[in-house]
Amino acid sequence: MRIAVCPGSFDPVTIGHLDIISRAAKIFDKVIVAIAVNPEKHFSFNEDERKDLLRTVAKHENLNIEIDTVEGLLADYAKEKGATAIIKGLRAMTDFEYEFQMALTNKKLNPELETLFLATSAENMFLSSSMVKQVAGFGGDISNFVPECIADRIIERLSGGKK
Ligand code: PNS
Repeated sequence: MRIAVCPGSFDPVTIGHLDIISRAAKIFDKVIVAIAVNPEKHFSFNEDERKDLLRTVAKHENLNIEIDTVEGLLADYAKEKGATAIIKGLRAMTDFEYEFQMALTNKKLNPELETLFLATSAENMFLSSSMVKQVAGFGGDISNFVPECIADRIIERLSGGKK
């Protein structure tokens, strides 16, 4: 069985993430969406909330994926789960340096593990969780940026009553 890990902060999950995850699910027998737990990083949604948002989206979209959290190194986690690939979306050249650095580091830590990049769909080139949070924070319309089934929850949480 070919297993892939789609790691990320998913703070919150966007339609860009959803596009990459569902494309990965067509290629691999099993896809584990691994939510990073990093105590040094400030997240707007805690681990359980990010997991719950992803679960809602997976159910709504009928996605056959596993949702989990990764607390240590991704390279170790992938080994533990029997995964042979990490799948990441690449939006533009601006993503490349950071992603390349992570891919090479993970390869050194776990030589059996390949990082595969999927080119983001053209309509999601500009999209990021940070941008979604900023728009929602000002009470703006995020309906084109996040799956519809979770949009209200994100707005309610981030708009601070502006909407
Ligand atoms: O969505 P993001 O924030 O770009 O995802 C970053 C993520 C989760 C892929 C990265 O921070 C990660 O792999 N974290 C797990 C800890 C780890 O293995 N760090 C070293 C990676 S080179």
